[in-house]
Amino acid sequence: MNVIVVDDYMQLSDTVAKIIAQRVQSKKDLVLGLATGSTPLGMYQELIHMSKNNRVNFGQVTTFNLDEYVGLSACDPQSYCRFMQEHFFDQIKVKRSFIPNGLAPNLAYECLLYESEIKRYGGIDLQILGIGRDGHIGFNEPGSACNSRTCVVQLDDITIRDNARFFNNDRSRVPRQALTMGIETILEARECLLIANGAHKADIVARALRGPVTESVPASLLRNHKSFTVVLDKAAAISLG
Ligand code: F6R
Repeated sequence: MNVIVVDDYMQLSDTVAKIIAQRVQSKKDLVLGLATGSTPLGMYQELIHMSKNNRVNFGQVTTFNLDEYVGLSACDPQSYCRFMQEHFFDQIKVKRSFIPNGLAPNLAYECLLYESEIKRYGGIDLQILGIGRDGHIGFNEPGSACNSRTCVVQLDDITIRDNARFFNNDRSRVPRQALTMGIETILEARECLLIANGAHKADIVARALRGPVTESVPASLLRNHKSFTVVLDKAAAISLG
């Protein structure tokens, strides 16, 4: 595990964008796993900036997002599909992008399909991940099996509470279920990169990186990965000692 601690959110976004750009430069048809949420917003902005200045070209890159809410259409303002459109794909042309379809008539089949698409593209080269305050990665909540594949999951109360900020702070509007790549799906990526910023993540970051490797803290399972990098700002790293 390689832990990089930088001063602030701007440096974090810059560092992660540079790592991604470097991977795209060395493999033009990179298969890139992406995350949504607040943490990667700066990273997306920096990648757009780099792309506009011809410092990176995503034209041959294929992307797979980690997760999507069940029951939200692709054009729902709170769907992860829409988030990606707004914050990245509207400005960056990639070869092909995949996001699980939370409105698929048969969700179990959608999960199998997602797995088979990942396989068809040769597997994920680099997976970007945020971390939930309960230690979730993707939407794999505490207790998720380490051999789980893309599946339908129930969201924990803490996740519903945290994500209510995207739904006008109205918890009742947050979907209770999501589709997510499983832990094993994530661990099969050739490289994993976890990012976290802010004091509110310090406790869970310390548990994930210094505590026991356990399904109770899904992010800790990333320590079993042979190519695992963590990029933190100082505030998120403060409890690492
Ligand atoms: C989102 C995802 C989640 C988030 C996590 C942190 O696609 O997979 O695991 O990365 O909930 O979210 P933020 O960045 O909003 O703190």
